[in-house]
This record gives sequence, C-alpha cells and structure tokens, in this order.
Amino acid sequence: MRVRGSQTLVLSPQGDEIVAFNFLSKSVFCCTPNTLHLLQSLDDWRDVDEAIELLQDGSAVAKQQQINEMIQATAIVAENSDQAAAESEFLKSWDWGIPAALMHFSLKDCAFLSIEEVEELQQEKAAKTPSPKLYELNDTYNDIHQLPNALIDNDLLQLMARRRTVRASLPHALTLQELSDCLFAGMGITGQTRNCVCDLPLSMTPSGGARNPFEAYVYVKSVDGLEPGFYHYSALEHSLGRLPTNQTPKPSELLAGQDWADDKPCVIFLAAMLERTMWKYLDPNAYRGVLIEAGHIGQNIMLSATKHGLSACPTAAFCHSLLHSCLGLTSTTQCAMYSLTLGRPGEDKTNRIFQ
Ligand SMILES: Cc1cc2nc3c(=O)[nH]c(=O)nc-3n(C[C@H](O)[C@H](O)[C@H](O)COP(=O)(O)O)c2cc1C
Repeated sequence: MRVRGSQTLVLSPQGDEIVAFNFLSKSVFCCTPNTLHLLQSLDDWRDVDEAIELLQDGSAVAKQQQINEMIQATAIVAENSDQAAAESEFLKSWDWGIPAALMHFSLKDCAFLSIEEVEELQQEKAAKTPSPKLYELNDTYNDIHQLPNALIDNDLLQLMARRRTVRASLPHALTLQELSDCLFAGMGITGQTRNCVCDLPLSMTPSGGARNPFEAYVYVKSVDGLEPGFYHYSALEHSLGRLPTNQTPKPSELLAGQDWADDKPCVIFLAAMLERTMWKYLDPNAYRGVLIEAGHIGQNIMLSATKHGLSACPTAAFCHSLLHSCLGLTSTTQCAMYSLTLGRPGEDKTNRIFQ
C-alpha cells in the first residue's frame, strides 16, 4: 500500500499545539512533531514501509499503529481509498484555492442547534453583551431630507412589503401555476447574449458574467398534477423532470431538523454548479458572487410566492449528504446553497426564528 500526506489540511497553532483540520473529511487532530515531520516528508505517494521508517520514535508495532491512526484521522491517505479519490477529485476540480475551499467544504453537513438551544444561547449572550444596533438613524446628521412615502400608489412596492417568512402552513396543495410562477420568477431563462466565446443565458436575476451557476430542484409533497417526489426544473424549457430517486425523506430531514417544513407542500432547492463560474473566474472572490446570486433568485421566488398569497420561507441549513443523494449531485463543485419552502401561510403564533 502507498500513502501520501493529505493535501486538504489546514494547520493552526492553538496554545502549545498545532491543530490540523481536514476540510474534506472534517477531521480535527493535534500534530505531534513526529506527525509534522511525516507530513512534510510525504508530499508524494510512498510505500507504507517507507512512511513507517520516517517515523522517529517507537517500536515497529507502535509505528504501524501510528500510521493507521493517521490514516483514520485523514492526516495521510491510502492510495485508492475513498479519501484519496475525494482529494484527487478536489485537486482536479477546485480552482478557488484553500481559503475558499475551507469555508465551502467545512460548512457542508454541519451540525445545527435546536430552536431552544439557539434561544438559550442568545439569552446568555444578551445577558452579557447587548446585541449591536440592527439599524442606524440619521439623527447625528444636520441636513436630513424626509423622503416621499414609497408605498402609496405603488403596487410593486406594496407587494414587496407584504413578503413575510411564515413557517406555519395551511394543509393545502399548491397549484401547478403557483409553483410554475415561482420557478420562472427565480430561474426562468428569458433572453440570451453572446460574449467572445459562447452564448450566455439571461434571466430575471443578474448573474456574474452571465455564468448562470444555479439549477433548481423541487421536492414535491402536494402540488396539483404532480406525483410526490424530486424534480429538476429546466430553466430554458420551463419544465419539470422527475428524478429517478425513490427516496422520500421528510423535508425536515433535509433541512437540519426544522420540522415546520414538514407541513409545506413543496420545497425549492437552489444548487450551485460552481464549475460554471469557476470556468471563467479563477479569483475566489467569484465564490462570494455565487452566494449573492442565490439571494437574487430567492428574492424573486419569494415575491412571486407573495403575489399568490403564499409564503416562501428561506433556509440555508441543510443535511447536504442526504439532499445531494436525493438530487443526484455527486460532483465536488456542485452544492445546494439555498432553499425556499412554499406554502399557504397558517396562523403562526410565535413565528420563532430557527437559525
Ligand atoms: C440566508 C437566510 C437563511 C435563513 N435561514 C433560515 C432558517 O434556517 N430557518 C428559518 O426558520 N428561517 C430562516 N431564514 C428566514 C429569516 O429568519 C427571516 O427572513 C427573518 O426572520 C426575517 O423575517 P421576514 O423574512 O419575514 O422578513 C433565513 C433567511 C435568510 C435570508
């Protein structure tokens, strides 16, 4: 067997220790001088016996044990293992460097707190440190101009002002028209342009370089005319294609345990195909652009929902592995980023904010 030092490690000094974090496997471990020496020496595949010889202290059995533990911790990877395959796929496909990768991959499948835990934490925090102001006034300025009322005689702004996240839902199916309008508002391709190399799709939301990094998927529980299941929305054809999966998780299982989502008739997931944006922009700043685009798309979906008297509740708290397996997303550069449940608002006595 050959082994190599992991290429997806980030090391940081913490007190007396050097702590390593593997952002692909999410493993965290302390590095002894022996480990660091080995990692520095194993920058390419080497036979495991050579790796054992590189270890400075201990009996042969102890050294073998240490190598096994380092493989377990993904400090080093064994050739042809799943971890080696994941790393090689990452190295081949990720052009945005380690800092952006650290954020992107370490936030996948992370643990979320329950609403009670979130509230308790906030209460503890507020007892020690009051929340910063959540808006600024103009009272420190001398030259103040009161602006005209924006809502009078303005249907668009009145609609926008009605948008609200309502987590409680009435047990009504969505009509196909409602779902169709929400998808079209967020994702529909409404034009085309061309740059020096290729045709570029245009939609109702802006996209950095018109690279259009998002695909939308719908998890239908109760929509007139559609069998329950997972669907892909073709933004160009304005159609839904049923995915072949037989999985039927509760929406809350996909949305980090948020059980209010189980009453919603459907959920739209926005998944980024990062390779589309990465193809043009090698600068990791483009990653920020992709996240911003999810917000533009989400807002259009929410406004279209509002127009139909629905509430679209946004969330970015996912169980990525389960969701990706339902959606058939297997590539390193494809990742669910944002989702919106759709439903007719019910009476929400608390409307407690989960995340
Ligand atoms: C990026 C983002 C993520 C959110 N995630 C959640 C979430 O996980 N769970 C939830 O209940 N609400 C979530 N929300 C909804 C906010 O809690 C909600 O927008 C906020 O309370 C303000 O209420 P409003 O949308 O009615 O204006 C999210 C909103 C945004 C923009």
